[in-house]
Amino acid sequence: MKQPNDPAQKVIVMDFGAQYGQLIARRIRDLKVYSEIVPCDISAAELSALSPSAIILSGGPASVYAQDAPRIDADIFNLGIPVLGFCYGQQIMAVTLGGNVAHTEVGEYGPAPLTRAGDSQLFEGTPTNQTVWMSHRDAVSSAPVGFTVTSSTDVCAIASMEDPSRALYATQFHPEVAHTEYGTDMLHNFLYEICGLEPTWDMEDIIENQVTAIRQQVGDDRVILALSGGVDSAVAAALVHRAIGNQLTCVFVNHGMMRKGEPESIEQVFARGFGIPLITVDAQDRYLGLLAGITDPEQKRKIIGSEFWKVFFEEAVRIGGAEAAQQGECRVRWLVQGTIYPDIIESGARKTGGKASTIKSHHNLIPVPEGVHFDLIEPLDHFFKDEVRALGSALGLPDEIVYRQPFPGPGLAIRIIGEITREKLAILKEADAIVRAEIDADNPGLFEQTGIRDSARSVWQYFAVLPDVLSVGVMGDERTYAHPIILRAVESSDAMTADWARLPYDLLALISSRIVAEVPGVNRVCYDITSKPPATIEWE
Ligand code: XMP
Repeated sequence: MKQPNDPAQKVIVMDFGAQYGQLIARRIRDLKVYSEIVPCDISAAELSALSPSAIILSGGPASVYAQDAPRIDADIFNLGIPVLGFCYGQQIMAVTLGGNVAHTEVGEYGPAPLTRAGDSQLFEGTPTNQTVWMSHRDAVSSAPVGFTVTSSTDVCAIASMEDPSRALYATQFHPEVAHTEYGTDMLHNFLYEICGLEPTWDMEDIIENQVTAIRQQVGDDRVILALSGGVDSAVAAALVHRAIGNQLTCVFVNHGMMRKGEPESIEQVFARGFGIPLITVDAQDRYLGLLAGITDPEQKRKIIGSEFWKVFFEEAVRIGGAEAAQQGECRVRWLVQGTIYPDIIESGARKTGGKASTIKSHHNLIPVPEGVHFDLIEPLDHFFKDEVRALGSALGLPDEIVYRQPFPGPGLAIRIIGEITREKLAILKEADAIVRAEIDADNPGLFEQTGIRDSARSVWQYFAVLPDVLSVGVMGDERTYAHPIILRAVESSDAMTADWARLPYDLLALISSRIVAEVPGVNRVCYDITSKPPATIEWE
């Protein structure tokens, strides 16, 4: 679909090392300018076709002279588009344009005192002496002809350089990192003073534009969306509903593996709150039947995933009308997917901005049955996770949905180790509800999704796990032989690594005593104190 956010004004971040690009793009968007990330091997012609207003070269872990170090198409510097390079971005700019890079005697890691030299529009309004964030071993030893050096540190003689006549700017330090005292001012100067951009990436405008674009695209057609309970599909539903009202039907497949209260909350928010036509399919028995006797986690995942789409498409065909259903056809034309921008970046699908390959690759993941065809709407495919949340809040979704913890698609099925039974599900749901309630009550706001924020780590997920063992206990005068509950709470910023959360002892004690007292069938609570790696966040 033509995105309203494919504007004339767009900053392209060339990514020289996976973890940097997203942070830079987020910072630029925080300054209300739309930004996209592309891999660093993009050619000048491909880049030019994206019509960027400015280009940013990210940092990266390589050494510019290493054999397999990422290069840059030198013609990019001749496009007449302003370029700003950070760290590796400065070094690659230097060597490509005839300067040199060398090993510094000592590396420079962390905060460093910087001194400005001369006038620079990039540093406009910032003091002569300031703190910047460095992370490098190599540094530019001679700037290319035409460049002037605009700052230095004790270790790094060329901490920044520029050739304003060609609108080329670079810093050895990282302005995108919060520890660079005036980093935001520098980005602001680059976007607004040097490139002359306007603040156009604004949530209210974005909603307006998206609503118009969805209306134009859909016309009078009918649209269907699978609500999973997760943030992305919820926000996509609220947005599409804002655009086309009752032309949208949502389907929620209740597989019985969600946390306590979640199916009810979906009904409450979407059907009663928003008034969205919502079809809830109670598939709990169907799933329990399919999962009976299954102990292998991957098989559980596969069954739940494939059955979900089966149930969903049965409904889609039914919604299409009895007549169409008889012919095995589906009259609903559009399927909304809650694909978000990091999904696109990670799948590497949009190197040149071409949408076709993206749609194909995502569509391929959905097992669309024979005779059924959908066109896809992906209204969130330009948004980062925290922008999706902001959009959700602006559309009136409650915090319990907008700030929901990451939750695996197969849900509690992979938190019950071994076979899933009705009894075990009931135990886990009750215990998990206590874990959530007590951690939330102990520290409102404890759970805060940090997304790609650079430094902060906070509690990322907290939940209960039901292992496949029984242990002996004593309750009153009776000996018991019952289930333990494992409590898992981790801090993380991206789920790639995680550390177990140092929850207060009193809180742990309260959770433990409540679970044992209130959940029949449980006589013991253990706390998982393993980090990832070597463990994973989930138990299966
Ligand atoms: P692990 O256990 O691999 O989890 O450390 C990392 C993150 O991924 C989530 N997770 C899943 N999400 N389907 C999902 O949609 C799954 O099968 C799945 N397994 C793990 C997990 O909750 C954590 O946030």
